[in-house]
Amino acid sequence: MEEKNNIMERIAEANRPVTTGVDEKDIKDWVTIYIMGKGYRVPADLTILTAIEYAGYRLLRSVGCRQGHCGACATVFRRAGEYKLQADLACQTRVEDGMYLVQIPFSPAEKAIYDISKEPYDASVFMKYYPEVARCVSCNTCTKSCPQDLEVMDYVQAAIRGDFELVADNSFDCIQCGLCAIRCPAEIVQYHVAQLGRRMYGRYGLSMPEHLKKRVEEIEQGKFKEAMDNITSKSREELEKMYAERQREPD
Ligand code: SF4
Ligand code: SF4
Ligand code: FES
Repeated sequence: MEEKNNIMERIAEANRPVTTGVDEKDIKDWVTIYIMGKGYRVPADLTILTAIEYAGYRLLRSVGCRQGHCGACATVFRRAGEYKLQADLACQTRVEDGMYLVQIPFSPAEKAIYDISKEPYDASVFMKYYPEVARCVSCNTCTKSCPQDLEVMDYVQAAIRGDFELVADNSFDCIQCGLCAIRCPAEIVQYHVAQLGRRMYGRYGLSMPEHLKKRVEEIEQGKFKEAMDNITSKSREELEKMYAERQREPD
């Protein structure tokens, strides 16, 4: 019984792939899901991400941290009997019986190249690099699509007004998953707009903290050069050993 619980707990964990080592007889509840139209019977406790792996797919894209932080695992799905197309993070969403889904390997978007030290600190910078922001129709679809529950439309509107602080604050937890951009009728790439806003705000809107100024001076004086040279000369195996033996904060 203890062994059975361990297995159920293990597959319920979102941060581990479970493509091997699970005995079907230990699974209590099953659901049927459809991945790119093909039906699979998978354990009911799984996240979309682990269910895809359980079904036999090996993900090379569309997966990263498995913890809801990296934004790599955007997924689009429809629940059984629902007309609504949903989008969420595959590592943070449980499978449901009858769910149709597809992973989005990448959200294509052109990222502007700029040098923030040469740009004026006003709204024109957004119009220059992302002029499509002016086409926002205030539909709020981006906000409703955001798995981080960010006020995406508000930060787009703030960009149009040149309110860098609000852009930075509202988008601070953006994980660049792209789900807002793929739903936007104005084809705005909100997360790139936000990144430009945060960079500009960091460069012009905030004064440099004393401790950061001191650290930059130390770097320029070469204080960490020896340590950096040492670590960059290590082999992968040596780095892995160092990582495993690193000092950790107490739990
Ligand atoms: S989805 Fe696009 S058009 Fe709609 S509010 Fe968001 S940025 Fe504006
Ligand atoms: S703002 Fe857009 S890219 Fe950022 S987390 Fe929300 S949906 Fe993802
Ligand atoms: S794998 Fe990183 S957010 Fe899902």
